[in-house]
Amino acid sequence: MKVQVTAGDITATQADAIVVNLFQGVKAPAGATGAVDQALDGSITKLIEQGEIKGKAGELTLLHTFGKIDSLRVIIAGLGKSEKFDIDGVRATAAGVARFARKAGARTLATIVHGAGIGGLDPELAAEAVVEGSLMGAYRFLRHKEPDEDAKELDELWLIERDESRLPALSAAAGRAEIMARASALCRDMANEPANYLTPTDMAQRAEELAAEAGLTVEVYDREWMESKGMGAFLGVASGSLQPPKFIVLRYDGAPGAETLAYVGKGITFDSGGISIKPAAKMEEMKGDMSGGAAVICALWAIGKLGLPLNVVGLVPATENLPSGTALKPGDVVKAMNGKTIEVINTDAEGRLVLADGLSYAQELGAAEVVDIATLTGAATYALGPYAAGILGNDDGLRDRIMEAGKAAGERFWPMPMFDDYDDLIKSDVADVKNTGGAPGGMTTAARFLKKFAGDKPWAHLDIASVDVASSDKGVLTKGATGFGVRTLIQYARQKAQRAASTPA
Ligand code: BES
Ligand code: MN
Ligand code: ZN
Repeated sequence: MKVQVTAGDITATQADAIVVNLFQGVKAPAGATGAVDQALDGSITKLIEQGEIKGKAGELTLLHTFGKIDSLRVIIAGLGKSEKFDIDGVRATAAGVARFARKAGARTLATIVHGAGIGGLDPELAAEAVVEGSLMGAYRFLRHKEPDEDAKELDELWLIERDESRLPALSAAAGRAEIMARASALCRDMANEPANYLTPTDMAQRAEELAAEAGLTVEVYDREWMESKGMGAFLGVASGSLQPPKFIVLRYDGAPGAETLAYVGKGITFDSGGISIKPAAKMEEMKGDMSGGAAVICALWAIGKLGLPLNVVGLVPATENLPSGTALKPGDVVKAMNGKTIEVINTDAEGRLVLADGLSYAQELGAAEVVDIATLTGAATYALGPYAAGILGNDDGLRDRIMEAGKAAGERFWPMPMFDDYDDLIKSDVADVKNTGGAPGGMTTAARFLKKFAGDKPWAHLDIASVDVASSDKGVLTKGATGFGVRTLIQYARQKAQRAASTPA
């Protein structure tokens, strides 16, 4: 979808559909909605009077203009109660509108910036949210099938702004939003991709392509390298698969000489559970068990595209987790890169094994701050349901900053405990630690396990197993892979770069 910001009057725009909005309870629309209402001889006001348009959040009404204005259709988007309306509302509204307009057959869509007028939101943030929401809401994964509706795609999105002096700032905002939304789409594409089309080798290849596009350095390491590094935990998981494991390293140097932020993503391209095999039901969803790794790769791509003034390294240990004659067995002991030995109680707790070596390697690279992101535990879903991810770690400051970035991105994180005595649950009789403490407190014991490999620098762990797949279209999310976390990682880098710029060296 092409995005353009233009100055003008939306009633005079020539598009397949124009979008105006209405807060709940407003009887006499003002601004752009009022102008369109007038041009349509008061149809909007009439529909409000008749109770057909209420302005409720998510409400979408389609009017045909029959030549009264130059655009074929008008979409009136309900924004809900004005006092509750925020940037998330802008994104969700734009996303719903994009899907609605596509189904109505529109190829060109002109919209006002929701919330920037009487909504009182910052116009640049609102513009960013409109573009991000529209692009994310229109996302589809059609690589292996024809679209079931009309093949029509939304081709163009025009943001119409009355005040010409705002154009440069809004265009820049739209440009940033396009990068954020594309990162999200790239991430969803990877996670939606069937595991036979996205092996660790394929994932590494995508990382290489994206790195080239965004000016990142990339290294893809093979088994021999992992052996030389002593990555016995990662190699253990990889030992059951015929697909060669890959350790993907992306590097963005936007502030030479300054400290490095490390993002580490779980890259299990398929998780069968291994010898501790999973039940058949929903096992197909485990093609998305590399969502954390995809988020890291796509965040690095976006950070490169945005040209942020900071240094970030992205690490993705990628492998399948399959049962075979060479696979890890329950009871096996492996030795991680940092020298710690791990008793593998359950081969389905493989994410923490590959992350153990990923986190150790982040330390070897001298990272000053480490954030890992992983579809790590079913416990995340039990604790939080589908609308929040878990956040844990060793540093409250980093945790709070990530949560703040998540808030700005419209991605919810909720802190889970890191009490020391949960270590009792992962004590092993034969090794330094065991890889599971059972179901109770599963998010915490997984994080306590990771802590043993995360080093002393500030570290945050994002458990996105609860949110990696959406069961239906909802706001910016489309059914299937959500790409959750990628925009928080980008946003965190944006905010970190901003903070560095405003702190005297
Ligand atoms: N990839 C799964 C976690 C998962 C479950 C992600 C559902 C998305 C949806 C992870 O590797 C796993 O299998 N975790 C086990 C750990 C257990 C054996 C300690 C789990 O949570 O059941
Ligand atoms: Mn597993
Ligand atoms: Zn897994």
